[in-house]
Amino acid sequence: MHNKILIIGSSPRRGGNSDIIIEHFAKGAENAGCESEIVQLSGLNISPCVGCERCRKDKSCTRLNDDMTDIYEKIKHSKGLFMVSPVHNYNVTAWMKAFIDRMYCFYDFKEPRPNDWSSRLSGQNRQAVAAAVCEQLDVKDMGFTIEAMTMPLEALGYEVKDHLRFLGVFSKGAISEVETALKKSEESGYNLAVSLKN
Ligand SMILES: Cc1cc2nc3c(=O)[nH]c(=O)nc-3n(C[C@H](O)[C@H](O)[C@H](O)COP(=O)(O)O)c2cc1C
Repeated sequence: MHNKILIIGSSPRRGGNSDIIIEHFAKGAENAGCESEIVQLSGLNISPCVGCERCRKDKSCTRLNDDMTDIYEKIKHSKGLFMVSPVHNYNVTAWMKAFIDRMYCFYDFKEPRPNDWSSRLSGQNRQAVAAAVCEQLDVKDMGFTIEAMTMPLEALGYEVKDHLRFLGVFSKGAISEVETALKKSEESGYNLAVSLKN
C-alpha cells in the first residue's frame, strides 16, 4: 500500500464546484509531498450493486465487470481517500451512492446473518476526508450528504480526519470566488498528507 491519496469526485459537472475543491485539495497534498490520483465517477461505467451476494464467497465483485474493477485496485493501494459530492436532494449524487454500495465486497460477514462483520480494509491506518458542496445556506439543506460518506468510510475501516461542508455555492465554478473554501480545501489536503506519513 502507498502513502497516496485517491480522490473520488462524483459531480456530473466538469469544472464545477466539486472539481475546484478537488484541485485545491490535491495541491495541498502535493505541497506536503503526497501523490494523489483523481477518479471522476460520472465519466465511468459503474453499475449499482445488485445484491447478488456473490462477493461473500468470492471476496471480490465477480458479478459486475465494469470500471470498478480498476478502482478496487486503486483503493487497495492508496492509504488515503478523499470523497467529494455535491448535494443532490439532501444526499450524495447517484454516482457516489453507486460507488459506496460497490465497496460492499470488502466486507466479511459471519453466518448466520445478521451477525458480526468486518472489513478487509480495516486495521491498515487508512485515513479519509469527506467533502460536500451545496446551494443553500442552512446546513440542514445539506441533508445527509456528509454522513452518507462518513458512515460507510468508518465501517470500511477508514479514520475520517476531516469533514468539509461548503454552503451557499450554486453556479458552476462559483466556489472559485470563495477564498476561504479554497484555503480550507488546500489545508485539508495538506493535513491528510501529513497525517498519512505519521
Ligand atoms: C439534482 C440536483 C439536486 C440538488 N439538491 C440540492 C439540495 O438538496 N440542497 C442544496 O443546497 N443544493 C442542491 N443542489 C445544488 C448543488 O448542490 C450545487 O449547485 C452544487 O454547487 C453543485 O456542485 P458541482 O458544481 O460540483 O456539481 C442540487 C443540484 C442538483 C443538480
